[in-house]
Amino acid sequence: MDKLELLSALADDIRVCPLCRLAETRTLAVPGEGNGAAQIMFVGEGPGEQEDQTGRPFVGRSGKLLTQELLKIGIAREQIFITNIVKCRPPGNRDPLSDEIAACNDWLSAQIALIEPKFIVPVGGPSLKTLVSPKLGITKARSKVYRRDGILFIPILHPAAALRSPTTMEQFLEDLSNLKEFLNREISDEEITPIEEPKAATKEEEDGGTLSLF
Ligand code: URA
Repeated sequence: MDKLELLSALADDIRVCPLCRLAETRTLAVPGEGNGAAQIMFVGEGPGEQEDQTGRPFVGRSGKLLTQELLKIGIAREQIFITNIVKCRPPGNRDPLSDEIAACNDWLSAQIALIEPKFIVPVGGPSLKTLVSPKLGITKARSKVYRRDGILFIPILHPAAALRSPTTMEQFLEDLSNLKEFLNREISDEEITPIEEPKAATKEEEDGGTLSLF
C-alpha cells in the first residue's frame, strides 16, 4: 500500500472508532483530509456541527474563514492536510476532555507518522497543548516556532476566536501573515523557542507528599 492508501485505510478505521464516549454522540467521525504528501499539517481542536454532519474538517463558519485566509497567503486546502486532535464532535461544542484527547492521540500520531510533515500548525490552544507542551498557552505561543521530533510547530489563534472579537481577528490575520513568512524562508536555530518540559514528579510527590522512610 502506498502512503495515500494507508491514510485512507486509517480514515476508514477512524470512522468506526469506538474508543471514547464521543463515538456514542457523533453523526460522522471526521478523520481529516488533504494531501498525503503535504509539507504542512493544520491541526484544530475538534469537529463542530457542520463537520459532524459532513464528515469533513473545517467546513463550518470558522473553517470557511480559515480556508479563505489561507488562500490569501497562497495556501490552498489541496496542498495541506487538515485534521483535529479529536476526530468526533464533543456534544454542544464543549471542549474535548483530556481522556478523549488521549484516546484519539494514536490516530493523530499515525497520521503525522504517515504524512511526515515539515511543519505542523496547531490551530488554537488545545491543539498546541496536545502537540507541543501542556505548559504553553496560545496567547504567548502564537506565531512562535517550536521544534519537536524534527517537526517545526507554528501555532496560530483559532478562527472561531477571531470570529468573536475584532482584536483577535487582527491577531489571527497577523499569525497567518507570520506563518506565510516562516514558510517561505529558512528558519534558523536561534528562532526556535525552547520547549519547557513539564516537571517530572519528585519522589515525594509520587509518594503522595509523605517522605519515604527508606
Ligand atoms: N474547529 C476545529 O477546531 N476543527 C474543525 O474541524 C472545525 C472547527
